[in-house]
Amino acid sequence: MQRLVNKRILLGVTGGIAAYKSADLVRRLQDAGAEVRVVMTQGACEFITPLTMQALSGHPVHTDLLDPRAEAAMGHIELARWADLVLIAPASANFLARLAYGHGNDLLSTLCLATGAPVAVAPAMNQQMWADPATQKNQLILQEKGVHIFGPGSGGQACGEVGPGRMQEPDEIIHQAADVFDYDLLTGRHVVITAGPTREPIDPVRYLTNKSSGKMGFALAAAAAEAGARVTLIAGPVVLDTPNRVERINVVRAEDMYQASLDAVEKGCDIFIATAAVADYRPTVTADHKIKKSTEEIHLTLVKNPDIIAAVADHANRPFTVGFAAETQDVIEYAQGKLKNKNLDMIATNDVSGTDVGFNSDNNALTVIWPNGHKVLPLASKTQIAKQLIELIAIRQG
Ligand code: C5P
Repeated sequence: MQRLVNKRILLGVTGGIAAYKSADLVRRLQDAGAEVRVVMTQGACEFITPLTMQALSGHPVHTDLLDPRAEAAMGHIELARWADLVLIAPASANFLARLAYGHGNDLLSTLCLATGAPVAVAPAMNQQMWADPATQKNQLILQEKGVHIFGPGSGGQACGEVGPGRMQEPDEIIHQAADVFDYDLLTGRHVVITAGPTREPIDPVRYLTNKSSGKMGFALAAAAAEAGARVTLIAGPVVLDTPNRVERINVVRAEDMYQASLDAVEKGCDIFIATAAVADYRPTVTADHKIKKSTEEIHLTLVKNPDIIAAVADHANRPFTVGFAAETQDVIEYAQGKLKNKNLDMIATNDVSGTDVGFNSDNNALTVIWPNGHKVLPLASKTQIAKQLIELIAIRQG
């Protein structure tokens, strides 16, 4: 069930006696690692209260398309975009008909029209209603539209009849929901990434820093999250939006980045990727007040910062550790030296002497080296390069 970890499931509940099973379904989806938001039709509210579903999902339940308060919190388009899967369980005969013909006269049907995510329905109705040619035609239309149809199951029904039309049990629905998602490369793994520069204060208004946009680290965080990982991004001061589903910890100084990284490793992570351009030295003392320019010369005494990645690679709870090396000459030799000296599992190296790769650029080209091999990732966007590197890391980490 790893495939449901971190997945966002919008659970639509329509009117039917099987709505009581949806309460259990919320719990089980959450147990499988998914985040669940619930939308109920007016009919569903006759069978089970929104309050029950709110208490179980931990989020307000959405019931109305024209509710200004709900729209202000998370509008219907936002909700439609949020979902990785829209799952309607139970789906009544009426709802199947409306979905087949593209109605948008309530919140749930509108969401189904507005979402780019896959839609799945778990029909639940009397066996005669399921067998009716209109319902059968509707389910064929839905299949043609690419809607996933889970069940229905067969057996005794609430109305006393026997036959196909029962909603599948929550366990079966969860298995089928997991099958909607492709196998993810990093599902179930925790990836920690450092990114951006650090700032080492000289006085309250001045600092030492390195050139770094943080773009590569942020692209890797997005790629790792897309590959199913839980991602913690420890970011120095950069002006970049946090990628979807990524937990961001903002730091300023190298020592803060060191502390945040070691904390994450101590708690347990599977992969550590250091893309940060950490300042190698910091002023020995930081002046309390702005230093006045009263003399021709001032002297700064600097002390070496801790090597974050080397400390991570030396830790008893050591994750698969990947470093970066930006060089302007003898790139491969220097990188091989760092791989060995810092005890890394892999190092991604780029030549930053040109203008079209590295630092502030949107593109990058890498040579990735590990103890017994290497692979060249030719010039491409940082998003593309990040995907390829994550794939390589997933394979090497095994
Ligand atoms: O030694 P150098 O700075 O060239 O090594 C680069 C690699 O080491 C990068 O992965 C960088 O994020 C990491 N590093 C670190 N802590 C430092 C210096 C570098 O984690 N203090």
